[in-house]
Amino acid sequence: MEIIIQPSAEAATSVAARVIARLLREKPDAVIGLATGSTPLLLYRELIRMKLDWRKVTTFNLDEYVGLPKEHPQSYHSFMWENLLGHINIAKKNVHIPDGNTNDIPKFCAKYEKQIRAAGGIDLQVLGIGTDGHIGFNEPTSSLASRTRIKTLTQRTVQDNARFFGSEDKVPHHVITMGIGTIMEARQNLLLAFGPKKARAIAEAVEGPITSVNPASVLQMHPVTKVCLDEEAAAQLQRADYYRWVFDNKPGWQKI
Ligand code: GLP
Repeated sequence: MEIIIQPSAEAATSVAARVIARLLREKPDAVIGLATGSTPLLLYRELIRMKLDWRKVTTFNLDEYVGLPKEHPQSYHSFMWENLLGHINIAKKNVHIPDGNTNDIPKFCAKYEKQIRAAGGIDLQVLGIGTDGHIGFNEPTSSLASRTRIKTLTQRTVQDNARFFGSEDKVPHHVITMGIGTIMEARQNLLLAFGPKKARAIAEAVEGPITSVNPASVLQMHPVTKVCLDEEAAAQLQRADYYRWVFDNKPGWQKI
């Protein structure tokens, strides 16, 4: 894992945006995995501002609520079109977001996995992290080998996401999410986390044991994962000074 600690969420986002911009320049038909939540909002704003060429890019979103109409303002379909996809020159046919209203969830999930494979696999997956360490909607104790499937949210995630829905009882309990095994197959992962609420989950994921109790900790087994943090999210890391030193002293060819 490459831990990149920046003074602010804006600065950490700018590093992440540069990584994506470089990939799109080097591989105009890249396959990008996208995430939702409040964390990537700054990133999407920055990517829109950069006016990159998305014509040949394919995207796959991590997850979606089950049973929420696509048009619902809190569906991840609405989120993605409102905050990124509606503002870039991506081809609609290249956008993939799990269908939370499918009448055959297992069949849909198998097809989603097949579509990712057919597209050549994910080149770069954007990730946020839940306060309990979840990535996508892979809650604690998810199988570290899991594939796209239905999951039930923990009470904690329901509470965390209630802010988007107005109240807890409006948050759907079921979701479709790429599995941890799916995420681990991305060629590169780019995890962003900001603010003090993420500090514990980040410290456990980066410096704790690999355990399904903190699903993000499995990224320790991934060969190319960058973790872009602001100071607050990095606050509980024991080796923060080392990560800063590494980033500040990269050889020229490795600079971001
Ligand atoms: C949701 C999403 C995750 C996201 C997490 C954190 O549960 N499914 O992909 O990382 O929330 O959200 P936020 O960025 O709003 O803290």
